[in-house]
Amino acid sequence: MEIGCTYVIFGATGNLSREKLMPALYHLDMAGEMDAETRIVASGRRDWDDARCIAEVRGWLEAKARDGLNEQVFERFSRRISYFRGDLGDENTWPRLKSYLGEHTDLPRNIAFYMAIRPAEFGLVVDKLGGQGLLEENEYWRRVVVEKPFGYDLKTARELQADLLKHLKEDQIYRIDHYLGKSTVQNVLVFRFANTLLEPLWNRNYIDHVQITHSETAGVGTRGAYYDGSGAVRDMIQSHLLQLLSLVAMEPPVSMQAEDLRDEKVKVLKSLRRIEDEQVPNVAFRAQYGAGEIHGQPVKGYLEEDGIPADSRTETYAAMKLHVDNWRWRGVPFYLRTGKRLAEKQSMISICFRHPPQQFFRDTEVGPMKQNWIMLGVQPCECIRMQVTVKEPGLQIRTRQRGLDAQLRGLDETPIDAYEELLLDVMDGDRSLFLRYDEVEWAWRAVDPVIRYWQQDQGPVPVYPAGSWGPTESRRLFEKPVQHWRHSMDPEE
Ligand code: BG6
Repeated sequence: MEIGCTYVIFGATGNLSREKLMPALYHLDMAGEMDAETRIVASGRRDWDDARCIAEVRGWLEAKARDGLNEQVFERFSRRISYFRGDLGDENTWPRLKSYLGEHTDLPRNIAFYMAIRPAEFGLVVDKLGGQGLLEENEYWRRVVVEKPFGYDLKTARELQADLLKHLKEDQIYRIDHYLGKSTVQNVLVFRFANTLLEPLWNRNYIDHVQITHSETAGVGTRGAYYDGSGAVRDMIQSHLLQLLSLVAMEPPVSMQAEDLRDEKVKVLKSLRRIEDEQVPNVAFRAQYGAGEIHGQPVKGYLEEDGIPADSRTETYAAMKLHVDNWRWRGVPFYLRTGKRLAEKQSMISICFRHPPQQFFRDTEVGPMKQNWIMLGVQPCECIRMQVTVKEPGLQIRTRQRGLDAQLRGLDETPIDAYEELLLDVMDGDRSLFLRYDEVEWAWRAVDPVIRYWQQDQGPVPVYPAGSWGPTESRRLFEKPVQHWRHSMDPEE
C-alpha cells in the first residue's frame, strides 16, 4: 500500500498559498506529520521553474514560519516541492498535467487537488481534471479541496454542486471553512459535550440570547475586487458565523464521526426560521465603513479603497437576528454580527443567561442586575469566561461582576493554524471538519432572502466611521431594551 500523497495546488503563486497553505504544510512537516513520500506540486501561470518556486516559498516562510525558518526542516520541505506552469484556460494544460503526474515517478498516486483559485474556476478545473481521468479512484484516492465561497447564492451553489458531481463522488469533495480548523472553534464541541455542568442549562429555559461576533480592524486591503462582489453576509455570515451557530445550537451527535456531526449541524440550519422579504429590515442590518482611525492611524473609507466602485452599495458590516425554531431553542434570538474596520479584532461567542426569578441584591451601579454570561473566545483571546455576580467587599450586600476564566492554551503551548489541521485531515481522509453539501445549501437558504432584498433596496446604506463598533442603529434588531452588543469579555462591560 502506497503512503503519502501529492498535493497539487492550483493558484500556488497567489495570496492564499503564500499566507496559509505553504506555511501550514511546512509546519506539518516540522511537526513530523507528513509522510516522507508526500510531494507538493505548485501550479500557477507565472513563468517560474522549480528553483524559482522554492526560492519564493522560502521568502514566504521567512516571514511566516513560527520562531523563524528552520533551515533543516526547510531543506527537507523544499525537496518536496516542484512547479508546474499552466494556464487554467489553456486546453494543453490538462494533458500536460496528466503526463507530468504520470511521468514523475516520485509523485505519489494518491492526489489531493487544492483549488486556491477564483471560485468561478472551480467547475472548469474539475471538469478538465475529470476529462483527463485524473479524478477516477481505483487503487489510489483522489480528493478535491474547494475553498469558500461555495457558490454565490443558493442557485449558483446548486449549479456548482451539479458540476462537481459530474466527476466526483461526495466523499471526494472537501469543502473548506477554515473556522472549523480553529482549535477554539472545535473547543465549542468539547466544552459542551465533555462537561456535564452546562448541558442542563443549554436551552431556552435558561438562555436569554446568543451573540456571535466577528470583528476586524483590517479593511478590504488588496481583495477589493473579490469583496465588492461578495459583502459581509456572503463573506462571513453564510459560512463562518453560521458554522459557529450550528456548533453552539446542535444536539449531541451520536458520535464524533464526520457524518454524525454533520447530521446534527444540518438539523440546526434546517430549523432556522425562514426570513420573509418584508421582515428583512427587522432582522438584518447593513452598513459600510467610512474614513476614520484604526489604533490612532487615519484610514480611508470603503469607497476610496482600490478596486471599489465609487457608488458601491456592498456591506462591510452586517448584523442579523436568527431564530432556531426547535424544541431546545424556540424563542431564543441568535444575533450575528461581523464587520471590517471595526474597533477591535475579535471573534467571540457570548451566551447571555436569563435573570434569576427574583432579584434580591442591588448592583453597585444603578440599573437592573447583570445577567450571567458565558463567553467563548475564538480569537485573539483563546479562552472561556463565565461572568458571575459576586458580593462586593464591605459592610453592605452589594454585588459586582467577576469572570471565571479557563485559558485554552498555555503560554508555552504552540498555536496551530486552522489550515494545518485541515490540510492534514485531507491527507488522512477525515471529513468531519469539512462541509457537506446540504450544510452549504441550507446556509444559503438562510441568507439568500437578505441578499436579495438588499440587492433591490435602493435606500441609503448607513456609514460608520472606521475604528468604531458600527452604527448604533443596528440595536434595532434586539428584542428587549436590556439587550446590547457585547464588545468585550470584560465583566464590567
Ligand atoms: C475569510 C474572509 O474567509 O475569513 C475574510 O474571506 C476574513 O474577509 C477572514 O477576513 C477572517 O478569518 P480569520 O481567521 O482572520 O478570522
